[in-house]
Amino acid sequence: MNELDSIVESAVSAFAQAATPADLENAKARYLGKSGSLTELMKGMAALGPDEKKSRGAAINLAKQAIEAALTARRQGLADAELQAQLQAQALDVSLPGRQRGTGGLHPISLTMERIEQIFASMGFDVADGPEIETDWHSFTSLNNPPNHPARSMQDTFYVDMKGDDGIHYNLRPHTSPMQVRYAHQHIKKYADAVKAGASMPEIRVIAPGRTYRVDSDATHSPMFHQCEGLWLGENVSFKDLKVVFTDFCRTFFETEDLALRFRPSFFPFTEPSAEIDIQFQSGPLAGRWLEVAGSGQVHPTVVRNMGLDPEKHIGFAFGMGPDRLTMLRYGVNDLRLYFDGDIRFLAQFR
Ligand code: DAH
Repeated sequence: MNELDSIVESAVSAFAQAATPADLENAKARYLGKSGSLTELMKGMAALGPDEKKSRGAAINLAKQAIEAALTARRQGLADAELQAQLQAQALDVSLPGRQRGTGGLHPISLTMERIEQIFASMGFDVADGPEIETDWHSFTSLNNPPNHPARSMQDTFYVDMKGDDGIHYNLRPHTSPMQVRYAHQHIKKYADAVKAGASMPEIRVIAPGRTYRVDSDATHSPMFHQCEGLWLGENVSFKDLKVVFTDFCRTFFETEDLALRFRPSFFPFTEPSAEIDIQFQSGPLAGRWLEVAGSGQVHPTVVRNMGLDPEKHIGFAFGMGPDRLTMLRYGVNDLRLYFDGDIRFLAQFR
């Protein structure tokens, strides 16, 4: 084997043995570097005559090309191996199940509120929304509460550190009943215009669901709770209509015809006569018990007057019910606080 062939062979094997790119570059220097073996041979050519120089030069060039080809191939080989190792080390198991995001759902009380709105809307009731921070006049006075009524006391009602026009602190509304008067005031101009235009006085038929607040906390009372007010005033709206509307509502809400209703005489300042509405399931786990679900009554003439309406012409009923309690009855939940603890294990059951 001539000298050139053996240099090529030794270079190819040195490259093959180089385990890292750095090893490889060191090996390259031994053959192609400034004092590499091939470079030394090229330097030796200076002493040769022209013909010899030509043939010798061609041979050395061939050897050089062979060594460079081997070097390039090995460089590529090492780079491929490194990439392969990297891929292996950072391997992703694409067959692993992904991290799932739970599907959300409405809160059970929101579900109830939506249900109440839908049912009453289907009976022609408007749905109204109003402020949770109320004036003393709207929460109490307009609703015929005497000045010394216990509901006004700090033990029952939350007050806000801010005073209204009357110099009395605003309250967190303890019921949705102020919405009766607010709603009438909001629409009074429309009613007056209609009458002026010769139409008969339009009816007021509205529900007002929302948050309410009282100083109270136990298994069946929460300082923040919900109410839904109802009001139907017209020329000739009576308790009979209340009974039909409320029975229809309860049967639709609880999805059963097997349900009785009873009006139990009671007292509220804003209605006369007044009644608690009790319901009784004829079957199921609650069968046979009378369950109180709402307060109601014929709207007191003073309240109608405070609405800006004539109590001789606007007669009808109002009711106030507790959506929280309706939700408990519907789903068989016995502690109200569960609704407001925010425990996903409880809430997820209503999705
Ligand atoms: N506002 C009453 C309460 O908070 C509930 C109520 C009773 C509302 C009779 C009414 C009604 O509209 O007519 O307990």
